[in-house]
Amino acid sequence: MPFAQDAAHQDLLAKAQRYFPGGSNGNMTLPPEYAFVIARGEGARVYDPEGHAWIDYLLGSGPMILGHAHPRVVAAVQEQLGRGSTFFYLNDKAIALAEAIVAAVPCAEQVRFTSSGSEATFFALRLARAYRGRDKILKFEGGYHGSHDYAMMNVEGQDPVPYPQAVRGSAGIPRSLEAEVLIAPYNDLDTTTAIIERHHDALGAVIVEPFQRMLAPVPGFLQGLREVTAHYGIPLVFDEVVTGFRFAYGGAQEYYGVVPDLAALGKIVGGGYPLAAVVGRAEIMAHFVQPDAEGRVVGQIGTLNGNPVAAAAGLATLEALRQPGVYDRLHALGRQLRELLAATLREHGFAAQVLGDGPLFHVLFTAQPVQTYRDTLQADAEKQRRFHYGLLQHGVLKSLSKGYISLAHGEAELEATAQAFDAVLAAMARDA
Ligand SMILES: Cc1ncc(COP(=O)(O)O)c(C=O)c1O
Repeated sequence: MPFAQDAAHQDLLAKAQRYFPGGSNGNMTLPPEYAFVIARGEGARVYDPEGHAWIDYLLGSGPMILGHAHPRVVAAVQEQLGRGSTFFYLNDKAIALAEAIVAAVPCAEQVRFTSSGSEATFFALRLARAYRGRDKILKFEGGYHGSHDYAMMNVEGQDPVPYPQAVRGSAGIPRSLEAEVLIAPYNDLDTTTAIIERHHDALGAVIVEPFQRMLAPVPGFLQGLREVTAHYGIPLVFDEVVTGFRFAYGGAQEYYGVVPDLAALGKIVGGGYPLAAVVGRAEIMAHFVQPDAEGRVVGQIGTLNGNPVAAAAGLATLEALRQPGVYDRLHALGRQLRELLAATLREHGFAAQVLGDGPLFHVLFTAQPVQTYRDTLQADAEKQRRFHYGLLQHGVLKSLSKGYISLAHGEAELEATAQAFDAVLAAMARDA
């Protein structure tokens, strides 16, 4: 039986099919039998127009760390709405948010706001190339930095090719850009170092998700990457769109104790509104205004850059995250959920790897430990899909690739999630 039962709900889904290519805006898509429309979110739950609820581990793909419609964020946004929505000029909220970011994030001496994480990584790379006077960038296989042309090389779901060959991960990217990107294996410091040593003179930047998708850095990997990039003077960019303000208030760079030259922030910092940021060392950030040898500065104009409504939401979110015990609670919730999932998988006889750190969790159905992107390709994708859709049927929403936990999740949600894990894995074990 499809989720959408009443005519109004079905009509909305039909209109989505009619007006959006593929029935979506490019984000999560679900097969017709599981498709539904979100009418509202509150705390740890989202609701369809018929009032059916899902415990939400999608969390808008990560921004909603306080849960949906958090009263302090709603109040901050309402207060700003009465003062105007956007100005294309300095505004008090954006200045206050920049000050809060500089106080929080170790590498952040200055800030430039953008509207999305994709723009933040795009401009961080452009800025690094301008500073360094070199064109190529190095990214990691399987790493995701948004959907711009440089980022969409060797992203998830592609067959591996020899390092450091870049392969376009989207139609429409100029073939010539493959020559501007080098690909290295995340968590393999020796191979990465060899690529950097060989190509250092052509490299304008190295960009990495410090915690790549759901892969934790092996001890020494980020430190080694920091050392080799510093040795050659290549700007190291941490993409902290996911990890920023999530693993620790200062992000992954605080959590792992490795400070990059630049970072891209997004998701949490905009409190659920369109805001992201390039942050970093003032000497590099100066190239937004300091002409290069040919008299050019780094262009980075955006109509909504530093939007005051989004900045107000970000400020209210960061204020809530500064309360004592918040990160202990986020880590405890994550640990509890991962342990619960691992125990339920064992109970039903599945060989699987539970991944995650802080308020993130994921499962890969493979008996082998997972450390690199290529290890993840060994996992049984069909089992993963069944698990995912089974959870949806049992009132639990997450993306196929990870689960995000919020401060609005508590014992009741964990208990209901445990029941869903048990029911879904029991059914999968029966059918196996
Ligand atoms: C690590 C990382 N970088 C960049 C992005 C792109 O951010 P946005 O979707 O806001 O463009 C994402 C989005 O999920 C991400 O996970």
